[in-house]
Amino acid sequence: MTRRTGIIGFPLGHSISPAFQQAAFDELGLDCSYERWPTPSDELMMRIQGLKSPEILGANVTVPYKQAVIGLVDRVDPVALRIGAINTVVRQEDGTLHGHNTDAEGFMRSLSFDGGFDPAGCSAVILGAGGAARAVAFGLADAGIERITILNRTEEKATKLADAVARATSVRVIGARLGGGSTFERGSPPDLIVQCTSLGMSGGPDEGRAPDISGLISHGTLVCDLVYNPIETPLLRLAAERGARTLGGLGMLVHQGAAAFTLWTGREAPTGVMERAARGALQSSTDWRNTD
Ligand code: ATR
Repeated sequence: MTRRTGIIGFPLGHSISPAFQQAAFDELGLDCSYERWPTPSDELMMRIQGLKSPEILGANVTVPYKQAVIGLVDRVDPVALRIGAINTVVRQEDGTLHGHNTDAEGFMRSLSFDGGFDPAGCSAVILGAGGAARAVAFGLADAGIERITILNRTEEKATKLADAVARATSVRVIGARLGGGSTFERGSPPDLIVQCTSLGMSGGPDEGRAPDISGLISHGTLVCDLVYNPIETPLLRLAAERGARTLGGLGMLVHQGAAAFTLWTGREAPTGVMERAARGALQSSTDWRNTD
């Protein structure tokens, strides 16, 4: 029996997960398929129930359902519960569904393997306060970062996320407004900057734009952008011009997918094959960023 997995979201035109997950199954010779399951909101509950069927291994969940699926599975992993979003559902042998979030792990693996960065004792600035920023903030906090500043266009969301992380961990976290040259944007450069907004995303409303944080970037900073199309975003170009090290978002995409692959199959994922397939798929799509 061919075991099935797929991605649930709406619309799904942008997703390159099918390309690199199928490449991983094929590389390991597993009789598994990875499908696109575009799901309008009134069909979401039925779609999730359908995952209980024996031929299903599990699913990925993407925009706009990462939060909604929390209430639709039988058990939610503590990491996913804390982040407040599920991106991976695993069907257990007894047919029950467990929800996980591999975004934080994907980011932390990319930061370590691709960026060679150890957050212990370091300071970070996170741009954005949505779901992706939430996963990054908790991932960094759990890895022993010393200080986090969250800058967001809507200040209230920045302070809310900062409070949530500070309450759940022992990390010093503050939230402030992004834009307008605040004290934080002119403060001493952090060790790490992680761009978690949609600025610069190709095909999006802010294509070609970088957040105005050039005062924060020094040659000792590692600048990460979760946007992976284009591969070199406006922010990464700016950072490179200032002599900073840079890390694009494709690694996080591949590593969150690799962690999901392992949850479904119990096998180590062939990340090299997945990354090549992801790059190939990107060249032939109008895809945007880490929302898979
Ligand atoms: P995701 O789950 O992918 O993180 P999201 O939850 O919709 O997506 O969050 C998008 C983030 O990008 C938010 O932090 C948003 O800022 P607001 O909270 O003010 O909406 C940020 N964002 C989107 N467009 C932006 C822009 N043009 N300038 C600055 N920030 C922007």
